[in-house]
Amino acid sequence: MLRYFTSGESHGEALVAFLSGMPAGLKIDQDFLNHELWRRQQGYGRGGRMKIERDAARILSGVRHGIAIGSPIAVLLENKDWKNWQESLPVEEGDPAKHKRVASPRPGHADLAGALKYNFTDARYVLERASARESAARVAIGGLAKLFVREFGIEVLSHVVSVGNASIGNVEVPWERISPLREREEILLNCVDADAEVRMKEEVDLALKTGDSVGGVFEVLAHNVPPGLGTYAQWDERLDAQLAAAVMSLQAVKAVEIGSGITAAVSLGSAVHDEIGYSESAGFAGFTRGRNNAGGIEGGVSNGEDLRVRGYLKPISTLRRPLQSVDFATREPVKAAYERSDVCVVPAAGVAAESMVALTLARCALEKFGGDSIGETLRNFNGYLEQLRQY
Ligand SMILES: Cc1cc2nc3c(=O)[nH]c(=O)nc-3n(C[C@H](O)[C@H](O)[C@H](O)COP(=O)(O)O)c2cc1C
Repeated sequence: MLRYFTSGESHGEALVAFLSGMPAGLKIDQDFLNHELWRRQQGYGRGGRMKIERDAARILSGVRHGIAIGSPIAVLLENKDWKNWQESLPVEEGDPAKHKRVASPRPGHADLAGALKYNFTDARYVLERASARESAARVAIGGLAKLFVREFGIEVLSHVVSVGNASIGNVEVPWERISPLREREEILLNCVDADAEVRMKEEVDLALKTGDSVGGVFEVLAHNVPPGLGTYAQWDERLDAQLAAAVMSLQAVKAVEIGSGITAAVSLGSAVHDEIGYSESAGFAGFTRGRNNAGGIEGGVSNGEDLRVRGYLKPISTLRRPLQSVDFATREPVKAAYERSDVCVVPAAGVAAESMVALTLARCALEKFGGDSIGETLRNFNGYLEQLRQY
């Protein structure tokens, strides 16, 4: 079974991610992992922090001579900003006068709920962990999951559908238009439509100018996913449910859509469901679809079409023109705390969501095909492909 978790504070010394259950023999390409980390740091509207960090994955265990050895994998990402925080956020007690209190909770951030829960007198420790800096650790192990699912021919990539009111419209973007995005050396808003990208940039500029922030929608596609991952047999084994939880777990994601789920709710069945055809050489088993409103999942099972998962991001809650709040100590009305912040993170959130989708697919694929070594896993996978061809 594939298991993973992360550790680390936003301004601590490092982030650490653990991934356990990866079959032995998988080739690990560290440049690929670092490129994934670079992609998460890009996008118009990121704050000053991303100019300080240049994330690199340092693998501590579970990989030797360039391959996974079946043992748990630990990956460390240094926080370059740590040198500026050693006195403010030491592991030891340190000098309390140098600690940086977050005196008034930001509406929309974890500050108030976290301080109440853990009985803290300010929000410093809360935001240190709630911060989406943590998502860099997920991208590191998500990169490993991507390398694993590539063995089955599966590719995972995201694009931005909307930023604020600027959108590419209600269109199904095919994989062929999304895959070139991976080669971009400069990432503005990671949009397939150049005109829409200009309008998206204007939305960010407006937020920058007015001391505000802006959200949006990203879409993750997983291409070449075989039918049969996930199952309707048990509620928590459904692929759609697992993907929804995985993507929703990302900071600031407030809704998840599979395929055209949202418009489906206001459409007639004939306009929603993807008619089935047959052409012997098509796909995994010859069955075809003219469109993919289902987003590649029916009954909680992948159906052989591309997976399409959208995440809806609320605007960032740290505002340069802060909203009203209350001082933790005095309970007097004050403006919410401000700390250097992003203004728009939709492209970065899309990259983090790719990782969550890849980790989910890796777990489901391992459940279906099993295997302790990559050779064994692929033997089982190839047997299944043959079964589909013979169906
Ligand atoms: C890639 C990424 C970067 C983010 N950067 C910031 C940021 O700079 N400032 C901020 O207030 N929130 C940022 N957020 C959102 C917060 O982490 C998030 O709103 C907060 O942890 C509360 O969690 P919730 O929004 O899921 O309820 C970011 C989210 C993502 C996905």
